[in-house]
Amino acid sequence: MDYKKLAKIAIDARENAYAPYSKFKVGAAVVTEDDSIYTGCNIENASYGASNCAERTAIFKAVSEGHKKIKAIAVVGDMSTHTYPCGICRQVIAEFATKDINIIMVKSEDDYIIKTMEEILPGAFTKEDLLK
Ligand code: THU
Repeated sequence: MDYKKLAKIAIDARENAYAPYSKFKVGAAVVTEDDSIYTGCNIENASYGASNCAERTAIFKAVSEGHKKIKAIAVVGDMSTHTYPCGICRQVIAEFATKDINIIMVKSEDDYIIKTMEEILPGAFTKEDLLK
């Protein structure tokens, strides 16, 4: 997967962010097992707790279209730095990912940090733990 391309897709998705309260726009792009790409943005609400992060928007779109395995996900925040997924999003990514997939924190098309799922959520609680 070309991460520069994925970064650009996440940056474009960020444009659709609905963030009138925080003014912090976030975009995400997820790659599924069959190389489909789903995008997402954060969607806030006047009742703040009803807001949804960009990563979860992208993942929920993918899963609701039948794609339950994620190969990579790119996230972009305010572009002054590399924005990492929040804790809840890390947990949601882990549900549909293996430990070795790449999480790409984008600052610009040419400036991104790559970490694995295990690096950003070591020892994640997963469905395997429920079976023990
Ligand atoms: N946000 C995301 O969309 N993803 C993250 O991983 C971090 C936070 C959003 C939520 C809220 O709309 C805004 O950024 C400020 O927290």
